[in-house]
Amino acid sequence: MPATIIDGKKIAGDIKREVKQETDRLKAERGITPGLAFILVGDNPASQAYVKMKGKGCDEMGFYSVTEKLPAETSEQHLLNLIDKFNRDPKIHGILVQLPLSKHINEEHILNAIDYRKDVDGFHPINVGRLVTGQDCLKPCTPVGVQELLLRSGNDPAGKHVVIVGRSDIVGKPLLNILLQKQKGANAVVTIAHTAAKDITLFTRQADILIAAIGKAECITGDMIKPGAVVIDVGINRVDDPSAKNGYRLVGDVHFPSASQVASAITPVPGGVGPMTIAILLRNTLRAAQGNVYHS
Ligand code: GUN
Repeated sequence: MPATIIDGKKIAGDIKREVKQETDRLKAERGITPGLAFILVGDNPASQAYVKMKGKGCDEMGFYSVTEKLPAETSEQHLLNLIDKFNRDPKIHGILVQLPLSKHINEEHILNAIDYRKDVDGFHPINVGRLVTGQDCLKPCTPVGVQELLLRSGNDPAGKHVVIVGRSDIVGKPLLNILLQKQKGANAVVTIAHTAAKDITLFTRQADILIAAIGKAECITGDMIKPGAVVIDVGINRVDDPSAKNGYRLVGDVHFPSASQVASAITPVPGGVGPMTIAILLRNTLRAAQGNVYHS
């Protein structure tokens, strides 16, 4: 039987409705409008598209947002000065520097310069440390989006074997730490498989929940999946398609036609994890504006 489709667009819409309601209350009761600053360096088309979609999400929520578009050759110091300005701006509750940055800019210096209370990406070492130790913090958007997709589609990861393919700082590592916590909505047995594995299929076939975050088009095929597994596809890859209007189409890291014949449930690309990343970014910005994340 073909897999059930986990509708990320619908679930993200539910979360955005919750965020909008709370935002309206925050404005009415405390006179606070959540504010988000985007910093975009260079002309990477995918990064430009993501920032545009995130900005549109801010408009839908009634947030205040600013986007600083800078040329690829922008100096690290200029970027640090801009972050310092946003750190001190009371109208700004969240700062998002879209990655990747130009080669000459040290990503660590930039991410560490963001006030951790405005770090709506959850990339600052204070937030990473708090996440690992199970303390409340701003958490990375895509991994939390994956957790919400699982929970809201009736696939609680508790006691399940989750296999994540990919060990990035943005997805694989934080997702491991989120799902590993002895907390509600988590408590999974988690394995990370990555490029150093001799045979990745040995790992993927053991997954009750398989999460593909590799960044390589359609590399997880149906024969690599245990029958009945839940498959979450984090990948968004552009592949050439002369028949498409813009010359390309989007595919995930999972080969959907074969995987959907084996899995019990699966996310599509587009319309799976992508909209969730934006919904969680908006929720993180709201939480930062509420100012109640860091009690201890
Ligand atoms: N580039 C790819 N994903 C992300 C993300 O979640 N946040 C930022 N800032 N950059 C990214």
